[in-house]
Amino acid sequence: MTADELVFFVNGKKVVEKNADPETTLLAYLRRKLGLSGTKLGCGEGGCGACTVMFSKYDRLQNKIVHFPANACLAPICSLHHVAVTTVEGIGSTRTRLHPVQERIAKSHGSQCGFCTPGIVMSMYTLLRNQPEPTMEEIEDALQGNLCRCTGYRPILQGFRTFARDGGCCGGKGNDPNCCMNQKKDHTVTLSPSLFNPEEFMPLDPTQEPIFPPELLRLKDAPQKQLHFEGERVTWIQASTLKELLDLKAQHPEATLVVGNMEIGIEMKFKNKLFPLIVCPAWIPELNSVEHGEEGISFGASCPLSCVEKTLLDAVAQLPTHKTEVFRGVLEQLRWFSGKQLKSVASIGGNVITASPISDLNPVFMASGAKLTMVSRGTRRTIRMDHTFFPGYRKTLLGPEEILLAIEIPYSREGEFFSSFKQSSGREDYVAKVTSGMRVLFKPGTTQIEELVLCYGGMADRTISALKTTRKQLSKFWNEELLQDVCAGLAEELQLAPDAPGGMIEFRRTLTLSFFFKFYLTVLQKLGKVDSEDEVPKGQSEEDMVGRPLPHLGASMQACGEAMYCDDIPRYQNELSLRLVTSTRAHAKIKSIDTSEAQKVPGFVCFLSADDVSGSNKTGFFNDETVFANDEVTCVGHIIGAVVTDTPEHAQRAAQAVKITYEDLPAIITIEDAIKHNSFYGSELKIEKGDLQKGFAEADNIVSGEFYIGGQEHFYLETHCAIAVPKGEAGEMELFVSTQNTTKTQAFVAKVLGVPANRILIRVKRLGGGFGGKEIRSTLVSTAVAVGAYKTGCPVRCMLDRDEDMLITGGRHPFLARYKVGFMKTGRIVALEVDHYSNAGNTLDLSEAIMQQTLLHMDNGYKIPNIRGTGWLCKTNLPSNTAFRGFGRPQGMLIAEHWMSEIAVTCGLPAEEVRRKNMYKEGDLTHFNQKLEGFTLTRCWDECLASSQYHARKSEIDKFNKENCWKKRGLCIVPTKFGVSFTVHFLNQAGALIHVYTDGSVLLTHGGTEMGQGLHTKMVQVASRALKIPTSKIYISETSTNTVPNTSPTAASVSTDLNGQAVYEACQTILKRLEPFKRKNPSGSWEDWVIAAYQDAVSLSATGFYKAPDVGYSFETNSGNPFNYFSYGVACSEVEIDCLTGDHKNLRTDIVMDVGSSLNPAIDIGQVEGAFVQGLGLFTLEELQYSPEGSLYTRGPSTYKIPTFDSIPIEFRVSLLRDSPNKKAIYASKAVGEPPLFLAASVFFAIKDAIRAARAQHKDYDMKELFRLDSPATQEKIRNACVDKFTTLCVTGVPENCKAWSLRV
Ligand SMILES: Cc1cc2nc3c(=O)[nH]c(=O)nc-3n(C[C@H](O)[C@H](O)[C@H](O)COP(=O)(O)OP(=O)(O)OC[C@H]3O[C@@H](n4cnc5c(N)ncnc54)[C@H](O)[C@@H]3O)c2cc1C
Ligand code: FES
Ligand code: FES
Repeated sequence: MTADELVFFVNGKKVVEKNADPETTLLAYLRRKLGLSGTKLGCGEGGCGACTVMFSKYDRLQNKIVHFPANACLAPICSLHHVAVTTVEGIGSTRTRLHPVQERIAKSHGSQCGFCTPGIVMSMYTLLRNQPEPTMEEIEDALQGNLCRCTGYRPILQGFRTFARDGGCCGGKGNDPNCCMNQKKDHTVTLSPSLFNPEEFMPLDPTQEPIFPPELLRLKDAPQKQLHFEGERVTWIQASTLKELLDLKAQHPEATLVVGNMEIGIEMKFKNKLFPLIVCPAWIPELNSVEHGEEGISFGASCPLSCVEKTLLDAVAQLPTHKTEVFRGVLEQLRWFSGKQLKSVASIGGNVITASPISDLNPVFMASGAKLTMVSRGTRRTIRMDHTFFPGYRKTLLGPEEILLAIEIPYSREGEFFSSFKQSSGREDYVAKVTSGMRVLFKPGTTQIEELVLCYGGMADRTISALKTTRKQLSKFWNEELLQDVCAGLAEELQLAPDAPGGMIEFRRTLTLSFFFKFYLTVLQKLGKVDSEDEVPKGQSEEDMVGRPLPHLGASMQACGEAMYCDDIPRYQNELSLRLVTSTRAHAKIKSIDTSEAQKVPGFVCFLSADDVSGSNKTGFFNDETVFANDEVTCVGHIIGAVVTDTPEHAQRAAQAVKITYEDLPAIITIEDAIKHNSFYGSELKIEKGDLQKGFAEADNIVSGEFYIGGQEHFYLETHCAIAVPKGEAGEMELFVSTQNTTKTQAFVAKVLGVPANRILIRVKRLGGGFGGKEIRSTLVSTAVAVGAYKTGCPVRCMLDRDEDMLITGGRHPFLARYKVGFMKTGRIVALEVDHYSNAGNTLDLSEAIMQQTLLHMDNGYKIPNIRGTGWLCKTNLPSNTAFRGFGRPQGMLIAEHWMSEIAVTCGLPAEEVRRKNMYKEGDLTHFNQKLEGFTLTRCWDECLASSQYHARKSEIDKFNKENCWKKRGLCIVPTKFGVSFTVHFLNQAGALIHVYTDGSVLLTHGGTEMGQGLHTKMVQVASRALKIPTSKIYISETSTNTVPNTSPTAASVSTDLNGQAVYEACQTILKRLEPFKRKNPSGSWEDWVIAAYQDAVSLSATGFYKAPDVGYSFETNSGNPFNYFSYGVACSEVEIDCLTGDHKNLRTDIVMDVGSSLNPAIDIGQVEGAFVQGLGLFTLEELQYSPEGSLYTRGPSTYKIPTFDSIPIEFRVSLLRDSPNKKAIYASKAVGEPPLFLAASVFFAIKDAIRAARAQHKDYDMKELFRLDSPATQEKIRNACVDKFTTLCVTGVPENCKAWSLRV
């Protein structure tokens, strides 16, 4: 059979593909075949939304054109026949006109690194195509499938709010006292919302949108015919009728049906599965029909979940309430079901037949008794879904030739009640821990049970029904006794082995009871037997741009998909792709490497190993790493070699085909293992001051304990990427790298190739986020591609997939602290001793410098007269941990706030009083003997206390907690004092280069890289003020080693301070040279003076150099100043926890931050919000999970939860402290990138406060009881800490020698 042509449209242009390969995704096709690089690859698994595009097609059943968002990373091109695709490039451009969505996200400062921006733009754009005047709820809903790691989301919502018909911005003209524009004037602080002027925005004009391709419209009545596409390994048949489909299934029972590809796509990409014959039934009318029947609504199995959602919403609005109990249960599950992108393509039948043990819908369908119709050629049967439908793991009763035709969701009856529940790591997290559907039917007019069905996902290898428990309840009444009985029954029936996959045993078991308790209460409420608990109620010149909220200079290009990231660079003609081959063992000898199967993969070029390294195979910050492992591997993810092939797809296949055999060696995975085996890097680090013994002797109280802080994945949206281009002579090579550290990249590549550094050119345009993860670890990829390019003589590119990136490149260090603190009855601290242990991983990297910062910040903002802090770097068999925003300080400060909160509890004093009492004062010496000058922390504290109305709200919270049993609120205010400088003295230097061209335009270069933090924008502002010319005349093209050499990494929050001063110096040199020409022609323009200087043969190019004075500290003598100055801030947060599930809501956060005289308030506030939200992830959401063998389980957005649009505080008020110029940095500004991150600790301790309120309900509760809550405060930890009658029923013993599923590392 010859293959058909695939015809679709992209941005209005027809695409005809004669060789459509079913394995090709739309994303790969757009980026590589069509050169449309605006659509980004962030995860490849449908979890981040960076690849969002809009699909439009003519819907024959609805008789209209429909538009919906979709993830290009999971859409096979073969599914796109006669579909019109719109990408970010298709809606607007900086060259012509931005679309209002693009304009508003850019101008409202909603784009920092910009890597997420095109996807967010397309989600919003699609919403507006369907609903030009959306509500805020619809906007938030539309963005549910998109992640951003930089902005903290608030500015994006603020910008898009201007499209909303409710809460839309009136530009300050309305009478609404809460209008965002009214907030500025009366405050002593700058509030975040007033940083743009909505009046300037272009209006949205729906009539101007591109039309649906007329050619496709003309085809709407033409009969659809079967299509056939043939790829390298896979055949795709698009069936057009039910008969065709059943015939195909009869002939090829092994064929796989694919509708949305959300399951199959993941299996192909991540589980390396091959499906040689795919049949797509998406077009078949019977499988797309929706029928309202006698007993329920029947959906064809291919109906997308968005269609199910819309139909049920309409039914709920129209039908009597008693008929829609089940529908509301389904809708509740769909609400938390990933994003619109997924729901628009994923089918209801696909969800059922996938038979996932954690499916959200199957427990609901099973509990409701939904009817399934299954057909094959000549057979048809309809069954009710019950506990027999899933006979095993991922198995159903469907026969090999059968397909699922339809599923009928029943109406509920009078006296019938239904609820559904889903608990995952966060409310928008789609991967559930436990899901449930629960139904009860009462005998008419009574509360006597006729039917009770409780179905669960996440408690076995399939969806199950708790039959033993429910059977016993028939004819019983809905009362407290039944509740006790069911809970005891569930605790008995729903057991999990201590080593069950997914871990969290007690949490999951407790949830099964908590869910039932919620169901019990809900039913009582519906029966009118209880009241519900309250829900939460929802003299500078005009031209001088310093201090103004100038939007990020790349924002518009980022919003249009024009901004170039490393992997957007067009492919070279002879370019090759590289894929790393990494260890699957934590510690082992490599016995053999067999590449014979890999060599058979089409396009295979070579395998690289240590033998291919022409220079030194030794690399790393301390020379303790290898480019490719020699004969031993020391962590899972250790790079052993790499395959080089013609395409990334072939590279992936070849890498998977490389066979490695190992001889295992003993491995050390956790901090405790390392302590036990004395496995440390170097000797301990220490800071000591005062007389510890005397301090403890004087203390009224001493508290000691242990506290653990988990690690964190950087999760920059752009993964590591590098391209090496050999230049063909004298060992020259040019590399494009996504790195924060051009100098180390250059040095490491030169070393590995054995050439001088002057042959290696590193170029960085921008990064899609870095956060410290690209300070050193980016060299893992750049050295590998350099070896590949050297060996093959061709350009070689590698962009890590998200799972590889997470596995290989390490993250923030986990910490264990053992502490002892002595204090007086008044709460005043007199002595502190803390032993800090960090899990450094298999190489030293930056771990020592990070621990130094931990020790230097173990005081946070408090004066401690007698103190000793020690630090040990645990050498383990995990991938090396590395720099991460805050660089060890957040861990040091969180430990400080932990013991501080214990002092307050032990003394029975309000926590804020104890914190304030111990706070430093102006002129105090720190524990490292640096004098505090310009100490604004107390001002920030007092302002935050006042602006947050702390005391009034505290009383309200106490009242709320008294009135509510299962929901509790907590409030906490914490300070931060953040030392600014690199601790390594010589790194506190920077350079700049400025060229002025004869047309007056200025090309500026400096040592820092742009990764979303707005550094280039601030540098342009600095140069603009210094040269007194508009910012539009100044351009920064890139960061490169041949313009500014020997740069320090863009890190430690000092890049603006250092580079800004260097830029300033360079500008001064230019100004001095122009001075004579200005004097000669005082009324002339900048251009006149420039041209006059040129004609007088005066150089218009200058360098600038700066080093921070007086920075240098000795740990040996505890003297000298480690920091140039300090940044300060305070945050007050209020949370509400659900004691039954461990969920928490961030109700409100107030931040007062001292950023000196802000160079750019929009960027600074963006940094404060972004850092805070990243801290929120660190302390409350993000949990890395490792197997006992040291293998990371959490390798993508489906398993690792970063904050989403829903995670940010409902009220989020950021203020910059006024009138606090800083004489130590450029134009009196202060560092801002890292300091605010720690302020999210206010949320952590507010959660702890709320848990305390829950525990206080016990009759034998001791007000001074201390309890342990490690970081992050996940739902599991919150639930387990709210001890109650349910948790005690689910205590699970762990037998000796039982290996838990996951380890705390
Ligand atoms: C990012 C992401 C988020 C997700 N979030 C959730 C979530 O929150 N909750 C949840 O429960 N699931 C979730 N899933 C799983 C996913 O939603 C379901 O697997 C989805 O509904 C599958 O539909 P599909 O059309 O894409 O299936 P496909 O991948 O196309 O097919 C899935 C399976 O169903 C079979 N199949 C499809 N139609 C038929 C039919 N008519 N007859 C017989 N067999 C058929 C296929 O052969 C295949 O085995 C998520 C998946 C991803 C990738
Ligand atoms: S790249 Fe497609 S959703 Fe992340
Ligand atoms: S701006 Fe959103 S990920 Fe960087």
